Amino acid sequence: MNNPADRPRKRLEDLRSRRWYASADIRGFAHRQRTQQMGLRREEFMDKPVIGIVNTWSEMSPCHAHLRDRAEAVKRGVWQAGGYPVELPALSVGEVMVKPTTMLYRNLLAMETEELLRSHPIDGAVLLGGCDKSTPGLLMGAISMGLPAIFCPAGPMANGHWRGTKTGAGTHTKKYWEELRLGRITPQDWVDLESRMTRTAGTCNTMGTASTMTSIVDAMGMTITGASSIPATDSGHARMASLAGERAVAMVWEDLKPADILGRAAFMNGLAVYMALGGSSNAAIHLLALAGRAGVDLDLETMAEVSRRIPVLANLFPSGNCLMEDFFFAGGLKALLVKLRAHLDLSAPTVEGRSLEDALAGTECWDDDVVRSMDDPVVPLSKGRTLVLLKGNLAPDGAIMKSSAGEPELLRHEGPALVFDGPQDFRARIDAPDLKVSADTVLVLRGAGPVGAPGMPEWGNLQIPKKLQERGVTDMVRICDGRMSGTHYGTCILHVAPEAAVGGPLALLRTGDTVRLDAEAGTLDMLVDDDEIERRRAQWRKPEPRYTRSFVTLYQAHVTQADRGCDFDFLMGTAPVPEPEIF
Ligand code: FES
Ligand code: MG
Repeated sequence: MNNPADRPRKRLEDLRSRRWYASADIRGFAHRQRTQQMGLRREEFMDKPVIGIVNTWSEMSPCHAHLRDRAEAVKRGVWQAGGYPVELPALSVGEVMVKPTTMLYRNLLAMETEELLRSHPIDGAVLLGGCDKSTPGLLMGAISMGLPAIFCPAGPMANGHWRGTKTGAGTHTKKYWEELRLGRITPQDWVDLESRMTRTAGTCNTMGTASTMTSIVDAMGMTITGASSIPATDSGHARMASLAGERAVAMVWEDLKPADILGRAAFMNGLAVYMALGGSSNAAIHLLALAGRAGVDLDLETMAEVSRRIPVLANLFPSGNCLMEDFFFAGGLKALLVKLRAHLDLSAPTVEGRSLEDALAGTECWDDDVVRSMDDPVVPLSKGRTLVLLKGNLAPDGAIMKSSAGEPELLRHEGPALVFDGPQDFRARIDAPDLKVSADTVLVLRGAGPVGAPGMPEWGNLQIPKKLQERGVTDMVRICDGRMSGTHYGTCILHVAPEAAVGGPLALLRTGDTVRLDAEAGTLDMLVDDDEIERRRAQWRKPEPRYTRSFVTLYQAHVTQADRGCDFDFLMGTAPVPEPEIF
């Protein structure tokens, strides 16, 4: 990168916040007056970069429970560096509690972030988040706003333990739920587990969507390098937050904006890390959305191509058997980056004002079992990949699967479809004793897409019918136009585009039709005559909308399909955002 020390430094007169604070007229008076109303002396805020700390803390987001404290650490760094910090609360999008899905609100957080920064006297931003959708949401908005911005990841929670075994958030919830259904653990065990798996504040301790996304944006240069691996409650996390605040002030003077960091090299580095992490399938959507905001040309084909080269190296649930705290002690993301270095562009810049190469100087790996090397992967490429792209008459615009998290023998499969229209239909029939189903059946859930559900919930990890589970069946081919939690596993084909609710061919599939999957060839088809498909298409009727008002109507009118990142069509691209009039 061009060295920040060589970049023309921003002059005091050019600070954006001076449009609010510097004028001698009645408006400037009001802005200074109202800031002093909060007990600040004039000297404490005048002629300083104003750093907005966009904070997704909420008591409905346990993963972000510590972010109120962390905002104080960020402020310490900002004051220390001669800036004026202000905290701006934003939508938490805490996974788990928000229904039908946080994905419905990712774009709302992106809009909120952009508008918070735009409408206030802000010169630079520190973004506090980490639970799944909060990372892409905050960054999408910050990219579009174009002010210097640094991401401060919430950090993973501590390892979970139960009766001598490691338990990971999400992954083991699913595992023990299945064991409970089969009577292998007791209802009292199940109650006991509630308090054992998620012991501290912080994001899921498995390689779910949260750590996938925070690690990717770390590798892309948007955090203090390595920040994403620091456990939420480690004292180093507060020190990292303080450093982020300090850097935000420097970035304002250096005029170092997201567009200076997030070029093609950053995205390609992010993709390499995504695959090496065995990362969440959700990342495919979020990376497309981020690229769309940054004006970088990225598609699912490029992702699948990187996935063919880079095996899973991070030995973390659900692909491996360790947790995020183990990863941190092994050297964390920086150790992974060093092992991947031949596949990275280390000249790429970071928010620290130096290249990735410089940021990695002196890094060592302390546990070669947790962070593997290219010649000793967790899952060899021949056994499965992080992202497989599938196309065919069932998914003309693509569907994806994480073959490293499924059974290798199912990757080539032909079987009869069993189709469910939405979760209520699924719940009502899946465990029925007379359900016509065998281990070869392909379970299909449709109506789970961005428009149909709405918001594309994580419904794709379909429960195996109980009567098959009792016979020892642990995996089946499953197809859905929704998503799946990054902490889950199984041969699940996800993100089918176009989705059923907009008339995608998944809407035309019928129970009993033969479905053919060939993961190696990258194909997904229904073996139904073209004429018959056309006949069914002519009969298809768009479902009646369930929502006639609210944010959902805006969402359904403007959301793009999964292969384009599910951003709103009117927010994609790099058109500049006008500065607000001050009058
Ligand atoms: Fe917040 Fe998993 S629920 S990161
Ligand atoms: Mg998740």
